[in-house]
Amino acid sequence: MSEKTEKLQALHDTLLNLTDSPLYEYRKQNNYLPVLGQGSPDARIMFIGEAPGKKEAEKGMPFVGASGKFLDKMLEGINLKREDVYITNIVKDRPPDNRDPKPEEIRLYSPLLIQQIDIIQPAVFATLGRFSMEFVLKLFDVPEKSEKISQLHGRVIEAQASYGKIHIVPLFHPAVALYTQSQKAILLEDFQILKQFA
Ligand code: URA
Repeated sequence: MSEKTEKLQALHDTLLNLTDSPLYEYRKQNNYLPVLGQGSPDARIMFIGEAPGKKEAEKGMPFVGASGKFLDKMLEGINLKREDVYITNIVKDRPPDNRDPKPEEIRLYSPLLIQQIDIIQPAVFATLGRFSMEFVLKLFDVPEKSEKISQLHGRVIEAQASYGKIHIVPLFHPAVALYTQSQKAILLEDFQILKQFA
């Protein structure tokens, strides 16, 4: 096992034992699994969504429901497979009824995301939806950090990580594309920007 895989495994153990999470009881009651992430530990592109839904919590894997199928299609469109990238979320347990993550949940789970970033050291962050966009822009303290997703989607924002130069690409969440045709077209077009990094 590579050093990165070992470190990710240790993080998974930490997540399994995160009993002080407000979502832990809900996980246990429903026999759900926490979702750390999936993909290559050497990935150049990291996709960051919001939180696992029902399907994801049943399987312990990110983006395996309807939004995930759409994400797979978009990846295919730029000649990438799931195994080539790393896919994760800010919040690692399913919030009840797929509600938005609460600030205290983001606070509790985001140290795990930060450790995943330190281990994988992606060159490109494709954020899916406003929660992960806001978190990543603030994390890397970019001047655009207070701007809205409606202004920033589809742009490439340069930033500096501890390990080198990175690019942040804010994208709409694939779930919005499932409900709104106009948003779907925008997401499909924005996604093409990732081609240059594939
Ligand atoms: N939506 C997300 O934000 N993440 C998932 O893993 C699935 C759906």
